[in-house]
Amino acid sequence: MRRYTAVLVGATLVLALGPIRQQIHGHTPIASRFTYNEHIYPIFEDQCGSCHVEGGIAPMSLLTYQEAYPWTQSIREEVLGLRMPPWKAEDGFGQFKNGHVLPAHELDMILEWAAGGYPQGPRDQVPTPPAPLTDWKLGAPTLELTIPEPFALGANTSEVVRYFAMDSGLETEQLITGVEVLPSSRAVVRHVSVYVDTSGTARAADSADPAPGFADGFTGQPVSVWWPGQQVVTLDDVGYALPAGADVVVRILYKKTWITEGQQFSDQTRLGLHLASDVSPIDSAVLHSQSDPIDRQLTFSHQVDEDLTLLGLLPEVDIDATELKVEGVHPDGSREPLLLIREPDADWPTRYWFDTPHVMPTGSHIEVTATLRPGAERRAVSSLFTSQAPVRLLLDFTSASAAN
Ligand code: HEC
Repeated sequence: MRRYTAVLVGATLVLALGPIRQQIHGHTPIASRFTYNEHIYPIFEDQCGSCHVEGGIAPMSLLTYQEAYPWTQSIREEVLGLRMPPWKAEDGFGQFKNGHVLPAHELDMILEWAAGGYPQGPRDQVPTPPAPLTDWKLGAPTLELTIPEPFALGANTSEVVRYFAMDSGLETEQLITGVEVLPSSRAVVRHVSVYVDTSGTARAADSADPAPGFADGFTGQPVSVWWPGQQVVTLDDVGYALPAGADVVVRILYKKTWITEGQQFSDQTRLGLHLASDVSPIDSAVLHSQSDPIDRQLTFSHQVDEDLTLLGLLPEVDIDATELKVEGVHPDGSREPLLLIREPDADWPTRYWFDTPHVMPTGSHIEVTATLRPGAERRAVSSLFTSQAPVRLLLDFTSASAAN
């Protein structure tokens, strides 16, 4: 519903301002109370600037007026279509600590600015884009790991997934409470997930491949799922076990846009791990739908047979769907909203960390409903965890038995 309200509000404002159109910007009459320098830049810096910045992952910077204004129409379409920014969890249906959708009033301001002649605003208030991030946001990590050798992304490769195995060097078990990622080639590091491997599989695959890293053959449940712009968080009182001698495996999706197509890159991403030894271990479970959907509604659920505290959800939708909904159903039948995503986008896999963990008692269940588009087709998106069903969900939780 949000987008329709926004369109109406935007349209009303523009109409109301119609009679006072006086300024002329180029050939477009100015009918916006909001200007780039005063109002729109702070939104772009905050909501778009982690990617739409010089040298960033997106095709253009939105942090100067000269670069941003030619994109006005496209910006309108992307924000109205809920494609940009890529964070998907609907506000008010679950509360999350690592991101949020564009607030309705900011969406309205962008729309009014775009439709109303996109004025630049006072010349003496031209904003200065921030310096690129080259340091840890969360402060010095406990353990810093760097891909051992730079990975070369050739001019003819538009997109590739590469895994790298790194020895943690730990002599006693610790728990991972936070992961920060610092790509060295920000323009192409689109998505990063981090795993713990105690089996030696990743290390063997890495040494069998003559180039840095390896291409596939490793699966697991990610400790961290990252793309630029999500707020990096450390967890309180909980963490993922990193046993002594385990390897840390990083999976990087390198992807170019039309602007970086044909260029060569070299990347040596760094990971900053925050570790603790006195926190409870996080457990996880994978839920998935049937493999051949017959209805437009795909529903599946997970029965809770021991009290658990739900910390986060990582959905993957590998089929054309209009909506994904996750609810907690308590033994008395009452429903608790957990996550709602409209227009799920497989390009930006996201783990949604609850602001406040949800306690699910024995006898409750976690229910997932995906609404498919008529004639929905599979997209064959490779999973970050171990399931190939069209709709899958990774649950992260703590339970009494896991703590022992
Ligand atoms: C997490 C990174 C990220 C954030 C945050 C983000 N974008 Fe994007 N945006 C991209 C990427 C990457 C593309 C290129 C499309 C693709 O390859 O998926 C893109 C494409 C676009 C396009 C279309 C450009 C074209 O080539 O046609 C527009 C317009 C846009 N973004 C606007 C925005 C606005 C406005 C915001 C903030 C409200 C925003 N984006 C936030 C990464 C981001």
